Amino acid sequence: MQELINKQVDAGHVSSFPVKMSKEVVVGSLKLAVFRLEEDEFYTIKNECPHKKGPLVEGIVSGEHVFCPLHNWKISVKDGQAAAPDEGCVETYETEIKNDHVFITV
Ligand code: FES
Repeated sequence: MQELINKQVDAGHVSSFPVKMSKEVVVGSLKLAVFRLEEDEFYTIKNECPHKKGPLVEGIVSGEHVFCPLHNWKISVKDGQAAAPDEGCVETYETEIKNDHVFITV
């Protein structure tokens, strides 16, 4: 059996992430959506809506939520939860800043 080991990936300099927007980061076959809510506040979720896999990175960011571009589900970029009455959750990934670079644990 193969053991899964978490690793940190350097997603780039913080200046390449616009504030109050998102950007797709691809790690192997994994497509991630990185959200920069404030100068120093970053969150990463899977770039795939829990409803029908809409690309969340193309959604509109409002506060700590993103609205899916396909059917407008409201997803928290902090915990990945869909807001009621919708139900579902998208995977979240630990994100931190070190030496002005964004590191994501995958
Ligand atoms: S695919 Fe996201 S709301 Fe339908």
